[in-house]
Amino acid sequence: MKPLQNKIALVTGATRGIGKGISRVLANKGASVALVGRNPDLGFAYAKSLQEQGFNAKFYPADVSKQEQITEAANSAASDFGGLDILCANAGIFPACKLEEMNESDWDAVVDVNLKGMFFSVKACLPYLKKSPAGRVVLTSSITGPHTGYPGWSHYGATKAGMLGFMRTAAIELAKYNITVNAVLPGNILTEGLEELGQDYLHTMSASIPLKRLGTVEEIGYAVAFLASEEASYINGHALIVDGGQILPESLQALEAA
Ligand SMILES: NC(=O)c1ccc[n+]([C@@H]2O[C@H](COP(=O)([O-])OP(=O)(O)OC[C@H]3O[C@@H](n4cnc5c(N)ncnc54)[C@H](OP(=O)(O)O)[C@@H]3O)[C@@H](O)[C@H]2O)c1
Repeated sequence: MKPLQNKIALVTGATRGIGKGISRVLANKGASVALVGRNPDLGFAYAKSLQEQGFNAKFYPADVSKQEQITEAANSAASDFGGLDILCANAGIFPACKLEEMNESDWDAVVDVNLKGMFFSVKACLPYLKKSPAGRVVLTSSITGPHTGYPGWSHYGATKAGMLGFMRTAAIELAKYNITVNAVLPGNILTEGLEELGQDYLHTMSASIPLKRLGTVEEIGYAVAFLASEEASYINGHALIVDGGQILPESLQALEAA
């Protein structure tokens, strides 16, 4: 029997990048997957391709920053699949904007999706996770914010660190329902969103990672699948860094000396 057999997962931000990787890995491990995102063309096409590979997958269009939309998506998914066991709150945006140029709407746009969208996603899935014998919430945070900084991402870093603050209290409050709340903290993972930052960014980042390469979306999916599994039943409120060692070197010289 596959490790996530009979589990039902809802993955936000599943039309591109890391969310696609998470969904594919969870499906491979036996879960049914409800894919959530705003782009219907990408979402329905990805659901179809998973179905053609024999997986149980369906797309639910929703903007996570709109509470009524993510609530409707969670309700429809739970009705179609017969409940929800796993929420992967992964949807996020990272438009670069330096602090001196940043205005209120730049700030709000990032907070609305990354932080409020995570909160709305958890609220929408919670009634179903409470009914699961072993509910799981896995948040996609980042190394940026909790551990590192990068010019242009003060708002983004604030949301990703904020997710961990949310996680720690949610993990305490929901433990009585046997729901665990954990987070993965990706380093630089090759996704459509990251590619939009340009080749210079990708090359500089690869060079600063001890493993000398960017991560794959599946490598985040494997970490999420572990935190969503029975084997992780006693891990609660944990932030798992998946970054190829990127946060370790004290300086560029530390990398060169190796
Ligand atoms: N790639 C990295 O190196 C990296 C590193 C650390 C953390 N992360 C985090 O990982 C997550 C995914 O990043 P990625 O690199 O895969 O980004 P991406 O390639 O740009 O994909 C982002 C996904 O989020 C969805 N999304 C964005 N806004 C949404 C909204 N309002 N409602 C619903 N879905 C929304 C997008 O779908 P639609 O456009 O269809 O809505 C898309 O599926 C983000 O939370 C990001 O902060 C990424």
